[in-house]
Amino acid sequence: MAATLKNIALVGAGGILGSRTLEALLKHGKHNVNVITRPSSKSEYPSSVNVKQGDYQDAAFLEAALQGQDVLVSMLGFAGLPDQHAFFHAAAKAGVKYVLPAEYGAPSGNDAQVKAAPLIQLKRNDHELIESLGIKWIGVVTNPWIDYCIRYGVFDINVPEKKATVYTDGAPFSTTSMGKVAEGIASLLCLSETEIQKEFANNFLYLSSFTLTHPEIFLAILRVTGTTEADWQVEKSTTKDLVDEGWRMVNGGEPAGHFKIVFGAAYTHGLGGDYSELLHNERLGLGEEDLETVVKAAVDAAKPGGFTAGTTLKLK
Ligand SMILES: NC(=O)c1ccc[n+]([C@@H]2O[C@H](COP(=O)([O-])OP(=O)(O)OC[C@H]3O[C@@H](n4cnc5c(N)ncnc54)[C@H](OP(=O)(O)O)[C@@H]3O)[C@@H](O)[C@H]2O)c1
Repeated sequence: MAATLKNIALVGAGGILGSRTLEALLKHGKHNVNVITRPSSKSEYPSSVNVKQGDYQDAAFLEAALQGQDVLVSMLGFAGLPDQHAFFHAAAKAGVKYVLPAEYGAPSGNDAQVKAAPLIQLKRNDHELIESLGIKWIGVVTNPWIDYCIRYGVFDINVPEKKATVYTDGAPFSTTSMGKVAEGIASLLCLSETEIQKEFANNFLYLSSFTLTHPEIFLAILRVTGTTEADWQVEKSTTKDLVDEGWRMVNGGEPAGHFKIVFGAAYTHGLGGDYSELLHNERLGLGEEDLETVVKAAVDAAKPGGFTAGTTLKLK
């Protein structure tokens, strides 16, 4: 049987996605998982995990930490993203074969979406940099994480306060649960090196749990909360309004507006937010999920204190 890429370096392993991915990798038990973390990190790891702690500005530390690693999986949170390029350069020097850059969102392979939402271009820039360094990238496409976005109100649906803006003209878009993202990445890394090279090198892994419109997500929340629209403060809006608001913010000096533009692009007809034709779920043997179960867990977690980064490992 062809060999797997055995040595995996994981950065951001104590985070929301990182902890779930670490757990999924450990469950498969096929890899040597090496966590790289910064001195100020408070994350804790099981004893089976090799942890290398050091300064991300120290190129020699990064290169040494990445020696012998087949894959670098970057799951740095937004605040840690400026450090990513140092990891890419060190990975090239250390001879790492593959990098999964921190993205795990909108499809950067889709020209129409990149044009509509320029923030997505940053992912393409990372792919180009990684390739120019002689490493292969795998871009993991997940679109918005349904449970994360419900938990944190990112869909503009605030569960604890029962306030929602519903984008009534929204097109169906792909959306993935955090568990499915982690499971998908761990399953990808269990494929043989030959399969990964042939199917995923300098290419995308497409994952999704459901294809839904924005109003359908709101309806699912109503169902699991046993409420009706009358119990909520609801504003009806359009994807154009969402995108226009995003641009108003960006042009007014608020970069956070870019996220509204990205979400607006996902909800807009014809921009490729529904990538269900491209999915690798079946290829990786990923099971189906039940919408109500996923939404119920997210709604329960939306209560203060109801959500932690780690799942069963209690990493955080
Ligand atoms: N599609 C979606 O809906 C969605 C939602 C959220 C995030 N994402 C993406 O998923 C990826 C991971 O996000 P996440 O939410 O899981 O991350 P997170 O939990 O916020 O952070 C992950 C880890 O990054 C490290 N980190 C955080 N701040 C740092 C800093 N200032 N300097 C250095 N390291 C720092 C920490 O690791 P240590 O403690 O080990 O140092 C932290 O545990 C990102 O690419 C993000 O864009 C996608």
